[in-house]
Amino acid sequence: RSENQLIEQERPSEFEVTGRPLTAVGLVPTMGALHKGHLSLIQRARQENATVIVSIFVNPLQFGPNEDFHRYPRTLDQDLQLCEQAGVDIVFAPTPEEMGVDLKNIQESKVTQVNPPSAMISGLCGRYRPGHFQGVATIMTKLFNLVQPDRAYFGQKDGQQLAMIKQLVVDLNFLIEIVACATVRETSGLAISSRNQYLTTTEKQQAAVLYSGLQKAQAAFRAGERNANKLIAAVQQEIAMVSSVSVEYIELVEPNTLMPIETVQEEGMLAIAARLGSTRLIDNTILRDR
Ligand code: PAJ
Repeated sequence: RSENQLIEQERPSEFEVTGRPLTAVGLVPTMGALHKGHLSLIQRARQENATVIVSIFVNPLQFGPNEDFHRYPRTLDQDLQLCEQAGVDIVFAPTPEEMGVDLKNIQESKVTQVNPPSAMISGLCGRYRPGHFQGVATIMTKLFNLVQPDRAYFGQKDGQQLAMIKQLVVDLNFLIEIVACATVRETSGLAISSRNQYLTTTEKQQAAVLYSGLQKAQAAFRAGERNANKLIAAVQQEIAMVSSVSVEYIELVEPNTLMPIETVQEEGMLAIAARLGSTRLIDNTILRDR
């Protein structure tokens, strides 16, 4: 055995000294209005890094002209309290000016934007939210360059965003580990989202049908169903029980490339977007053999 190996063995692991890693910086990017979903990302980051940074920025670049940018919930004081309780070291809550974001410059093509691969953003939410993923990719590139984290934490709830960001860090050579975190849900199954605040109590109950639809497909998958149309139909049937929920899309894609699949081979992401009144909701489930 070489001397190096011996030294390696004798040195305490970085966790042994403080119970915490000694160096790594973990970033949890958010748009604020923090809830249990965000907090689960923060907790995971807290376990895995010496320094945890939460960014809070309602990114104008990722909202369409008819979307909810102006009414998006902004609760900075409460967010700061939650971050403090969760042991966050730094909250980065820049203004658009500090972030160097100017919509007019974007519209006039005077500044650089980051374009995710069109194959990854032509389906799912990308079809209904033109420009959205360019806005996310551009702001994430800026945040990664400013914060220079070792790890960044994203929720599986936004499955297309997660896949697109994994691709972004590979393609643009960011030395950042992207950590995917499970979707946190209400007891009804409804995926927790800042936008749930727009829903009435009744609407929240109705919105849980997105999850129960996905669960119907999960059950069919576990019973051996592999055909995309049949799995999608299982979701559709369930959603049809609640007339106030109108489906935007239900698609089955490969979770990393986001290419549509007809038959699930290894794994598939079954994703749904639906509207309830003026509120747009998304959810997904991963179908895979365990
Ligand atoms: P935001 O919607 O605030 O979400 C921030 C992060 O929290 C995302 O990674 C999202 O997937 C995750 N998240 C939201 N709800 C969750 C839930 N119920 N369970 C688990 N994770 C959840 O996504 C954005 O902000 C923005 O697009 C951003 C990445 C910050 C870029 O502007």
